[in-house]
Amino acid sequence: MSERPWYESFAPPPTARPPRAWLDSDAPRLSLDGLWRFRYAERADGPLDFTGPAFDDEGWDRLPVPSHWQLHGYGAPAYTNITYPFPLDPPHVPDENPTGDYRHAFRLPDGWPGGPAVLRFAGADSAARVWLNGVELGRTTGSRLATEFDATGALRPDGDNVVAVRVVQWSAGSYVEDQDMWWLSGIFRSVDLLARPEGGIGDVEVSAGYDHRTGAGTLTVRADTPARVRVPELGVDAATGETVRLPLVEPWSAERPRLYDATVGTGTETVTLRIGFRTVRIDGGVLTVNGRPVLFRGVNRHEFHPDRGRAVTEEDMLDDVRLMKQHNVNAVRTSHYPPHPRFLELCDEYGLYVVDECDLETHGYGEVRWRGNPADDPRWEAALVDRMRRTVERDKNHPSVVLWSLGNESGSGRNLAAMARWARHRDPSRPLLYERDWTCRDVDVYSRMYLTVAEVEAIGRGEEAPLPDPALDARRRGMPFVHVEYAHAMGNGPGGLAEYQRLYETYPRLQGGFVWEWIDHGLRARTPDGREYFAYGGDFGEVLHDGNFVADGLLFPDRTPSPGLLDLKKVYEPVRIDATGDGGLTVRNGHLDSGLSHLDFQWTLEDDGEVVARGALEVGDVPPGQSVRVGLPALPATGGEAHLTVRAVLAADEPWAKAGHEVAATQVPVRAARPPQPPPAPVAVRRDGGLVRLGPGVLDGRTGRLVRLGGWDVDGPRLQVWRAPTDNDRAPHGQALEPLWRAAGLDRLTHRLRDVTVGGDGVVVRVRVAPASSDGGLLATYSWSAPAGDRLRLVVDVDVDGDLPGPLPMLGVRFALPGDLDEVEWFGRGPGEAYPDTGLATRVGRWFRTVADLQTPYLFPQENGRRAGVRWASVTGGQGGGVRVDGRSPFGLTVRPWTAEALDRAAHPTDLAPDGRTWLTLDAGHNGIGSASCGPGVLPPYLLPAAPARLDLELRVL
Ligand code: GAL
Repeated sequence: MSERPWYESFAPPPTARPPRAWLDSDAPRLSLDGLWRFRYAERADGPLDFTGPAFDDEGWDRLPVPSHWQLHGYGAPAYTNITYPFPLDPPHVPDENPTGDYRHAFRLPDGWPGGPAVLRFAGADSAARVWLNGVELGRTTGSRLATEFDATGALRPDGDNVVAVRVVQWSAGSYVEDQDMWWLSGIFRSVDLLARPEGGIGDVEVSAGYDHRTGAGTLTVRADTPARVRVPELGVDAATGETVRLPLVEPWSAERPRLYDATVGTGTETVTLRIGFRTVRIDGGVLTVNGRPVLFRGVNRHEFHPDRGRAVTEEDMLDDVRLMKQHNVNAVRTSHYPPHPRFLELCDEYGLYVVDECDLETHGYGEVRWRGNPADDPRWEAALVDRMRRTVERDKNHPSVVLWSLGNESGSGRNLAAMARWARHRDPSRPLLYERDWTCRDVDVYSRMYLTVAEVEAIGRGEEAPLPDPALDARRRGMPFVHVEYAHAMGNGPGGLAEYQRLYETYPRLQGGFVWEWIDHGLRARTPDGREYFAYGGDFGEVLHDGNFVADGLLFPDRTPSPGLLDLKKVYEPVRIDATGDGGLTVRNGHLDSGLSHLDFQWTLEDDGEVVARGALEVGDVPPGQSVRVGLPALPATGGEAHLTVRAVLAADEPWAKAGHEVAATQVPVRAARPPQPPPAPVAVRRDGGLVRLGPGVLDGRTGRLVRLGGWDVDGPRLQVWRAPTDNDRAPHGQALEPLWRAAGLDRLTHRLRDVTVGGDGVVVRVRVAPASSDGGLLATYSWSAPAGDRLRLVVDVDVDGDLPGPLPMLGVRFALPGDLDEVEWFGRGPGEAYPDTGLATRVGRWFRTVADLQTPYLFPQENGRRAGVRWASVTGGQGGGVRVDGRSPFGLTVRPWTAEALDRAAHPTDLAPDGRTWLTLDAGHNGIGSASCGPGVLPPYLLPAAPARLDLELRVL
């Protein structure tokens, strides 16, 4: 029998030092990050010849530490959501086990003290074996958890030191790290050598509570060595272990992240801390921070960068934090592992509530009906408790961390109970959460994912379906609720954000939620001819993969905000400005503990989209949770359709945005559009051979199609029902519409001209549009007239003929225009895209975009770029001139350099090339977007029924 490999052990290795807080110490630290020597192998049983200092690694490659080797040309990234890419045979892993051997030589800097030293790995995926100067220090497990080794005996104070590491891609730990993300390996966080002075500080634990009734703070700092605790600003100079009562402190909250600089010192080492006073408590079934009910306006964040994977830099983390703050996000769930420790420091400093999640997921056991789930197998208990312990010990001092999460999607079982027991005992100051065990037996907060609006409302009312066990049911019914994942931001969408937010803001038990997820995990790649795109599952030849399900974020991989993030910002507004309907506004302060003095309120009046007046609005300071009524400013007279836009902007620079940054806004219609003029006597039709001339248009008398408009070649209208299915239409984990639509033949409609009737002052064209093998279809009637010599009116009437199941993808008409018409100006909602249940951030105005910029580059091409509520639009070219469309009532507008069918066929944006025409689509409606890519579909009011519809348009030549 062969010996079991070192990385196939249920239990955590005993070799690491006990976990402790991530501390900022004045003891010398040597970063070992940089280019290391690297040797890649397909198996883990290669010779251990490389561990000693004398080994000649000249022939090896070089690989940056931190990094993932798959992103530097070794092996390949692989993406699976739920399934394990290896057989379920724990603790064993396949012999094909990609392995990286690393070597790094370093010298200690001058002045490095002799004595104890620690070698620290902040993250190695998935397990590593570590040698220093040929002496084995130990092994790491827990990819996203820190491991420290005692390096004292092996370190050479003078001369060269060589650290050698073998990292394996697959280990026993991989069974409990089945998160929905790329499988990426290597030393992906920093490696440091830390001097550990004699009499220094090993661990520090800060308890800093806040009593909201008195404003007093209580501070106790414990350390494993007696030391002095100093908080100069508060005059604190105390011994460790001593509890100091401070009559008046400023509390920490995400809105006002007040931190006090502190030191903990012995004679030989000083540790610097940033202390935030805050108390988290569940009070009467409500989760409170500093005595106030907290509302999480949250996102789930994976660590990700399109070139670096999870080896994120400080700049990447700062980008995330700033972008979150700029988009009104106040909370992060660190799905599904503890983040880089610097991220939590940034959350403390910039102000974000954190649900810190343990590095644990066993979702793929669901594929075998949870047989052998590590969460319930005693052989795994020590490893799971070790992971929880390392999470809590590392991150315990962060005021931003308000909840611990035991992990994600690991079924239920006794090891979760053991983790919870350990965490409760160690840190009674923070409640626990774990989504998957719906009995909530081990936790304090009820949390679920992807519930429908109706289910969330039932929970809000305390009317959720009971648990079979009455005691557990009663306990759970008394818990606050957090929607730990909702609104799956995959591709176009998510739709329906506002409906959830309304509930969170209505029911005290509902304490908000965390949108899934922050960023698309697309990896930057290039086509053979050098064009850049973002790769997803399957692009690396994986046998098992989950395609573009990895691209489900509010940010594109390069951190450009998607339309979904702009909607979320609107929905998460901490200040609500609403028209009261009687000529005033209410301003509601939805902050937890700040007034509104940090905001300026500004208004602009637009007449037909042109700004005609602007000013400031006096709102005054409004206490948290309160509203005020504000009168509208005196507005000058307007002649057209007028809108008042009121914006709340930062009055002064904040660390995360400049003064003037918009936090909240609303738009109030103040004057309706002028009623359309009764059409003048129509211009007569002129026949010209096979052509019919009508105002500025020329129709083909045989086909009834418009072929010219002024000097422009045109082809249309053609009834358009199909849209390139969105990820939410495709709905891999929800109720999919796409298969129903394809089964109904909506993607292969045929058109049959019934007749063309040329009258004296108009032309009527009737077309039947229907799929093969069905007797149901649509009847389109195009009625043309020319109300003036320079205008052409088109009324499109659509009727349902026979049986055609709804909802339809969309209903509109499209025209092909010359490709050199490549710029669009419109008066309507903008500037971003909008569908019936998205586009919450858009407002009515006059907007301009090039056709290229109207396209939203979702990683998997799909319906996108529609502008809603359009009153008129002009499509023009750089050379001047173009076409203008006015609607009798607002219409939907989509302008593309390719067709919806081409969009449907593409797998990556780089598959799409302009086909030489500009495709102008004008719609009477679209189906909503919903969130069925993972979760509920489109809500009933946003469905597009198969029902009669009309578009009333006027075309003009510019
Ligand atoms: C959840 C899971 C996430 C992610 C999401 C879908 O079930 O917790 O990790 O997979 O679904 O994108």
